[in-house]
Amino acid sequence: MVDQLDELLVCRLDTRRKAVEPCTIVIFGASGDLTSRKLIPALYHLHVINQLPSPFRVIGFARREKTSDVWRDELLEDLKTFSRGKNLDFSDWPEFARGLFYCQGGFEESESYQKLAQQIGDADHEALRRNVIFYLATAPTQFAGITERLANSGLLRKEEQPGGWLRLVVEKPFGRDLISARQLNSDLARFTSEKQLFRIDHYLGKETVQNILMFRFSNSIFEQLWNRQVIDHVQITVSEKLGVGARGGYYDESGALRDMVQNHLLQVMALVTMEPPVSLQAEDVRDEKVKLIKSIRAPDCGETSFCAVRGQYVSGVIDNQPAPGYRQEPKVDPQSNTETFVAMRLLIDNWRWSGVPFYLRTGKRLPLTSSEVRVQFRSTPNVLFAAQCGPRLDANALTLRLQPNEGISLHFNGKVPGTSLEIRPVKMQFDYHAEFGAYTPEAYERLLLEVMAGDPTLFIRRDEVEAAWSVVDPLRQAWSGKPLNESEFYKAGSWGPP
Ligand code: BG6
Repeated sequence: MVDQLDELLVCRLDTRRKAVEPCTIVIFGASGDLTSRKLIPALYHLHVINQLPSPFRVIGFARREKTSDVWRDELLEDLKTFSRGKNLDFSDWPEFARGLFYCQGGFEESESYQKLAQQIGDADHEALRRNVIFYLATAPTQFAGITERLANSGLLRKEEQPGGWLRLVVEKPFGRDLISARQLNSDLARFTSEKQLFRIDHYLGKETVQNILMFRFSNSIFEQLWNRQVIDHVQITVSEKLGVGARGGYYDESGALRDMVQNHLLQVMALVTMEPPVSLQAEDVRDEKVKLIKSIRAPDCGETSFCAVRGQYVSGVIDNQPAPGYRQEPKVDPQSNTETFVAMRLLIDNWRWSGVPFYLRTGKRLPLTSSEVRVQFRSTPNVLFAAQCGPRLDANALTLRLQPNEGISLHFNGKVPGTSLEIRPVKMQFDYHAEFGAYTPEAYERLLLEVMAGDPTLFIRRDEVEAAWSVVDPLRQAWSGKPLNESEFYKAGSWGPP
């Protein structure tokens, strides 16, 4: 009976989602980590669960000389290492791999684009020639050049062509600051319309991040509490055990502020704090996010005011294993002042959130890999228990656990059974895996499907990326040229600088 009722109460909004159409996806940077660790595993999973359009084709474009067969073999090896499913069955691989092709070429050579054009045109099925996604998984400095060459070679056109579409996917980071992001936006806008352009922030493809809006706007009990009268502060944490690994070259130019705060943390913050959109249409959702990001007060980094904490890891121990310091990582400048940790306090100047501090914190080589949002409610009035227990009486909190152990928990106080009067915090928990089973799609699976369907809701709009840079730029400027001081170093395996 209960099961039947539960079944009746499922609301499937997705039934109105556009179907994905047969297409070719051209990946620039086909030999890179992102392709082998994220994009190909995501596409393979989609193939296994029959969600890819048919026919479908991938063309990997990269500098290194190799054949399609060699590329397929390399991808299979990486898939076995990086795939999310522990018991993944590879029996569908040969069929999937028949749709993978390699195109050797230099990003700066026009002849390579002619070769690519020929390869795209080679398909038997018309839709594979007419519907094309260009996915830029390259160094950010190459985004504008590749786009221009695609346009010059006739592969990318701004105008709609009858019976087909052309889309451009751009990885993060989108620019290095507001000025360069604006420049990149105008460079790309010369050759693509905003409708064709999909700026990725893979956090938006995470199941739990998407659930933030569902959770807030489908549950009246929480939405009533979501304001400055009831909430004391909010903490958004993305902590990682891993260091920079093989990405030292990229990371040293970027740092935690550009790599994580400008995009992932601000996106999560926007979803937690935005007003309800007038509909779930892409522009309505993105309008509200932009409005929110614009109302974040730019950090005041004057000489005397508190702005944010930055840090860099030195060698330490994680999981009983020695971990090298950041300056000793491959491709990192041994004198580097790049931050691997940021903690900051932000305020939102709008009606709902005025005066509520938002603490954002992210770092590498911290003791735990964990992303969560903790909404801390105000304490009870200082009478009865609070008067007697003082700081030992926990304030209520709601934790949205984004990863791992995805779920939501509500912390409140309860009486410890017994003859004495003891109060202690207890927890109510919702656990994704317990409730829905183990299948949680990877962020890239969802995002790739959305690009194929032409739905930009989960991608960053032009004004949004610029608004986000405006929030972090003052900090960047305040730190630039200032070497780290002693107190800004933290041991790998600790929770950051004091
Ligand atoms: C990427 C950053 O965007 O996100 C990485 O460039 C970071 O430095 C990663 O490790 C974290 O993503 P996830 O999905 O593992 O939380």
